[in-house]
Amino acid sequence: MSHALDTILKEGVDALVAAGIESARLDARILAATALRCAPNDILMHSSVVVQDRDYDLFWSLLKRRSDHEPVSRILGTREFWSLPFALSSDTLDPRPDSETVVETALKLTLDCESQPSSVLDIGTGTGCLLLALLNEWQSASGVGVDISEGAAKTAQMNAVELGLSARSSFLVGDWLDSLSGTFDVIVSNPPYIREDEMPNLAREVRAFDPQLALVGGTDGLRAYRTIVPECRRLLRSGGVLVIEFGRGQEYEVGPILRAEGLTRIETHRDLSGIVRCLSATVA
Ligand SMILES: C[S@@+](CC[C@H](N)C(=O)[O-])C[C@H]1O[C@@H](n2cnc3c(N)ncnc32)[C@H](O)[C@@H]1O
Repeated sequence: MSHALDTILKEGVDALVAAGIESARLDARILAATALRCAPNDILMHSSVVVQDRDYDLFWSLLKRRSDHEPVSRILGTREFWSLPFALSSDTLDPRPDSETVVETALKLTLDCESQPSSVLDIGTGTGCLLLALLNEWQSASGVGVDISEGAAKTAQMNAVELGLSARSSFLVGDWLDSLSGTFDVIVSNPPYIREDEMPNLAREVRAFDPQLALVGGTDGLRAYRTIVPECRRLLRSGGVLVIEFGRGQEYEVGPILRAEGLTRIETHRDLSGIVRCLSATVA
C-alpha cells in the first residue's frame, strides 16, 4: 500500500491532537523525519513523496509512544543542552533548558577571575549536562560528576566520550558527597526539588518518564539541599563558586540554608522566563 507523506503527516497530527499533545504539528514532523531518516525541515519540502510500508510502520510506532505522552527527546534518545547533544537513558533526567541558567551563571561569575577554573564538581550529574557543558567552555578544566544512579553515571560517561571530554571528566557513583575529598574551584548542582505531594500533579511527560530519583526532594522538596550545602562548604575552595538550582519560589528556602552554613555573596539568577532559577555563593 502506498502512503503520501502529506497524508500520513496529517493523520499523525490528528492522532496527537486527539491524545491532547499541544505541540502535535511539530512533534509529528520530527517523528516523521526520524522514521524517514531526514531533517524535519525536509519533510515540508517533500510532502508528495511516497512513504514505504516499513517507514510508515515506524512512524506509527513513534506516534503511539508520543500519544502516550512520552517526550519527543525520550523517543529520540537525545536532548540538546547548551548546543551540545546529550544521550538520555531511563536513569537520567531529561535536561531542561532552564538548567542552562546554571551554566551561564558559573561562566559569568568566573569571567573576571585571573585564570579559568581548573576543577569542577557536579552533584547529581544525570546525563552530565552541567559538568560537560562547563568543561566544553573551560578548555583546561577537569571535573567530577557524582550520581547515586549507576545508570546515570554510565550515561554521563558515554556522553563525555561522545563529546570528546572523557579525558577531563570522571563520573562516580555515590550518595551525594560521601566519597569525595579535595576542593573544587566551581561546584554546580541541580538536585531533586519536587515535594512528594506535588508528584501526582506533574505532567505525565515528567511523572511517568523522568526517574523519581531525579525529581523527588522529600516532603518539603529541600532534603537534598540540607545534605549537599554543608558538604559544599568542605569541598569548595576559598573564593570558589557554588551555583545551585531549585524550583520556582524555593529561593526563599534554599537561601537561608546557604546562609546558615556560612556561605557568603549569595545572589539570585533568573532564567529566560524571568523566574529565579539558581543561587550562587562562595566560601571565605
Ligand atoms: C534533577 S536531576 C539533575 C540531573 C542533571 N544534573 C541535570 O541538570 O539535568 C538530580 C540528579 O540527582 C541524582 N541523585 C538523587 N539522589 C542522589 C543522591 N543521594 N546522591 C547522588 N545523586 C543523587 C539523581 O539520580 C539525578 O540524576
